[in-house]
Amino acid sequence: MLEITQIKTPAYALLSYIIRDPLSTECIVIDPGSGINSHISTDSMNIKEVINTHLHPDHTMGNHFFAGKIPIRAHPGDSGFAMRAVHFALSTIFNTKIPPKVSFDLNDGDQIHIGNTSIKVLHTPGHSPGSICLYWPGNLICGDTIFVGNIGRTDIPGGSFSLLSESIRKILTLPSETRIWPGHYYMEKYTSTLTEESSFLKSIINNR
Ligand SMILES: [Fe+2]
Repeated sequence: MLEITQIKTPAYALLSYIIRDPLSTECIVIDPGSGINSHISTDSMNIKEVINTHLHPDHTMGNHFFAGKIPIRAHPGDSGFAMRAVHFALSTIFNTKIPPKVSFDLNDGDQIHIGNTSIKVLHTPGHSPGSICLYWPGNLICGDTIFVGNIGRTDIPGGSFSLLSESIRKILTLPSETRIWPGHYYMEKYTSTLTEESSFLKSIINNR
């Protein structure tokens, strides 16, 4: 069973994740925040890769810590000029560095292997064109697609409520007992399940 470590960055209410297989010790880092270096060591930890669920700068602030050491990956939907412009503008607002090069090579249905577990990439556009979730039985890392009691905003350039609605419909096909691990905490509740969230999510996508 994969171990999930959730790391909070209070300045942005960001949630980063370290997913680790205890047998092989392999792990991946998801959406590293600015303080990720106090939680990891690229020398002593067996980190295979960094994954950005999307390219908004609060989710990529810690990328530079891994640059040149391990792959940093995201979906190609966030690689275009428009998203780079959004990223640059938001990086200025967030007062962060432009992160190092990202490999835009994660596509819907791809599998990421950690030890004997396969993590499936789900393309879930709407919050941004290249937003992804990561699913393995029982767990969904959902970036800014859904939160506990809320959904990702779609008013940033590249956002689309209709695409987000389709993505939420896709998420709701997963087993209801699936635990969700969002990219932000807004209500001091850091995780939930699709069972708990499904009626709210259905009301949002059916009533707008
Ligand atoms: Fe975002």
